[in-house]
Amino acid sequence: MRYYFAMKLFLDTANTDYVAEIAAWGVLDGVTTNPSLVAKEGTLRGVSRQADFKKVVLEMCKHVPCVSAQVTSTDFAGMKKEGEEYASWHKHIVVKVPMTTEGLKALSYFRSKGIKTNTTLVFSVPQAILAAKAGANIISPFVGRLDDAGEDGMKLIKEIMEAWSHYGFDCEVLVASTRHPGHIVDAARYGAHICTIPYDLFKKLPVHPLTDAGIKRFLDDWEKVKK
Ligand code: E4P
Repeated sequence: MRYYFAMKLFLDTANTDYVAEIAAWGVLDGVTTNPSLVAKEGTLRGVSRQADFKKVVLEMCKHVPCVSAQVTSTDFAGMKKEGEEYASWHKHIVVKVPMTTEGLKALSYFRSKGIKTNTTLVFSVPQAILAAKAGANIISPFVGRLDDAGEDGMKLIKEIMEAWSHYGFDCEVLVASTRHPGHIVDAARYGAHICTIPYDLFKKLPVHPLTDAGIKRFLDDWEKVKK
């Protein structure tokens, strides 16, 4: 790591080519997947859905130290079984658990076993506090979906970070469901620990028209010097 502390940047995707591409920039700290992203990539068409998902996740683990793999069970016993299976695949895997009372039981169980977790579908400060107290290593408030519903997603991040500043939660706040660069700017301003970003949005971040115009002018002027 080349810095003491900065907001971590994750890629929100189930596409392994995208992970390899962005990881090559030297700025990628992790990946978040979810069942919808996996379905979008159409990666589970083989004979064994579990084997295909495992292949995708293990490929990502070659590039980044943190890959969230989401359980699809809704009861504690099922989450425990799935989560233990995922965690056995690779030490970089973080088990993603939904924010439900069954999920809270699973978070507590996984913490006692040293299995890392990310709580998904967090939409309120009380949910954030419960997940952190149950033992989540990461919580994922969904800012874009709150915006879509007519609420202010980044207000939730501000409130969670304010609450976190009073306590010693061993739980990182991951800004999820980002839709535009403003979400990333505000996540950093509020001191969020992690931001997960879809591929198309990630590709916009290094670009500025004045950078392109500046490079063109430098190169044009250099040509004049050479003549
Ligand atoms: C990340 O962990 C979430 O699954 C993701 O950011 C959800 O984003 P969406 O609201 O665009 O589906």
